Amino acid sequence: MPNAGWWEALWPAPAKVLSSVGLTSGMDVVDLCAGDGWFTLEIAVLAHHVVAIDLDEKLLELARVRLAERGIANCDFVAGNAYDVDKLVLEPVDFVFMANAFHGVTDRLKLAHAVQTVLKPAGRFVIVNWHQRPREQTPILGEPRGPRTELRLSPDQTSEAVGRLQNVAGSRSAALSLWRCFRIRLIIYGRIIDLPRGAERLGNLKEARHEVHCFDAIR
Ligand SMILES: C[S@@+](CC[C@H](N)C(=O)[O-])C[C@H]1O[C@@H](n2cnc3c(N)ncnc32)[C@H](O)[C@@H]1O
Repeated sequence: MPNAGWWEALWPAPAKVLSSVGLTSGMDVVDLCAGDGWFTLEIAVLAHHVVAIDLDEKLLELARVRLAERGIANCDFVAGNAYDVDKLVLEPVDFVFMANAFHGVTDRLKLAHAVQTVLKPAGRFVIVNWHQRPREQTPILGEPRGPRTELRLSPDQTSEAVGRLQNVAGSRSAALSLWRCFRIRLIIYGRIIDLPRGAERLGNLKEARHEVHCFDAIR
């Protein structure tokens, strides 16, 4: 987890990111790989209930304090592996949010399958990824930031990892297995910009740090 100074500069308005990807009040949400709760706090402000999951108990404790300081009590903090989200979350949810972590997942298909299992019908899985530009081209406060260049995923790699579920789950139950994939969005200094259809070249915009992928489960 990066230190807070540049994370805050990178994500000055997490609530705007969340509303622009469809998080609305009353939802039950999982913040997967929640870290120290920078997004979790804003999710909890809006949502009915949140489960924040992370491998790192110390980061989860920071998240717990962050929310407690604001008097927010609708969040459970669960130390565990994202791959086990289907075992860690007991009730189906409307929304699974995963920011700045999907690039580190080695078995993305396994993860996407577990996510699908916890989503309500038509639930949404949102992945916020670092843009696949070289690390030295995504400086924050004057320093290269984010995952190593070779770890960064293209939009196709992300869509394929989740989209392949159709084949895997489809062989067991066609009714459970489809996703509808939204257009990719770019985040430029905290502002979200929809890519116009057929304008994928905009993905190379120099200011873009991140991309957002929204997958809706269709059951
Ligand atoms: C860069 S931080 C992002 C935190 C938060 N999502 C955010 O954007 O502010 C990545 C987080 O993913 C967590 N993580 C990495 N692999 C994980 C896994 N397999 N299961 C659960 N958490 C994981 C790390 O512990 C770390 O807190």
